[in-house]
Amino acid sequence: MTTIRDLTEDDLDAIVRWRNDAHVNRYLSNQLRSQPEVEVWFNSVKTHPKIWLKAIIDNDQIVGYAAVESIDTINRKCELAMVIGVADRWGRGIGATVLQVMLAYAFDTLGMHRVWAAVARGNDRSERLLRRAGFRQEGIMRETLIIQDEFTDLLCFSILEDEYRTG
Ligand SMILES: CC(C)(COP(=O)(O)OP(=O)(O)OC[C@H]1O[C@@H](n2cnc3c(N)ncnc32)[C@H](O)[C@@H]1OP(=O)(O)O)[C@@H](O)C(=O)NCCC(=O)NCCS
Repeated sequence: MTTIRDLTEDDLDAIVRWRNDAHVNRYLSNQLRSQPEVEVWFNSVKTHPKIWLKAIIDNDQIVGYAAVESIDTINRKCELAMVIGVADRWGRGIGATVLQVMLAYAFDTLGMHRVWAAVARGNDRSERLLRRAGFRQEGIMRETLIIQDEFTDLLCFSILEDEYRTG
């Protein structure tokens, strides 16, 4: 069973481990590699009013984290991000389950109108996850991240509230 709970200081070692796993990081930027970087990041986001950060729990074990970020209550939009750091749990629907939890939080609890997410070009698993949930690609940020020493495009996806409600 997949659930979420608040992320705590005790989870940071796991995040450092995942963010140093080349397989998990294949399509992520170079941020959050060292313990101090992860601690600074956690301290800045844990009480941040525009960020909702959760640990992903699968069969009683933390396997990743998920965030609703850049929460903009004026324009009613926010961004989603997710990392499942235990690669042998990929492909079992955990990502799909957590994505639905985040979408329900964004649209039902926060009353958002637009939810967006950005995926590095080549991260096909993540792209399929978003498309299956009804996201549409709306653009490309060209060469906006350095991944594995190369400037990499980010594909931008979004879903609007009526698309979410009508499926
Ligand atoms: C991208 C990521 C979040 C996807 O998570 P996931 O748990 O593997 O995703 P899912 O299991 O829901 O979907 C993956 C596949 O499993 C399949 N699947 C297996 N069992 C499933 C189930 N019970 N329900 C839904 N899908 C299931 C899906 O059909 C899907 O197949 P497809 O990719 O061939 O279409 C995860 O791989 C990850 O964290 N990667 C590293 C970090 C990263 O890239 N994050 C995203 C940054 S934008």
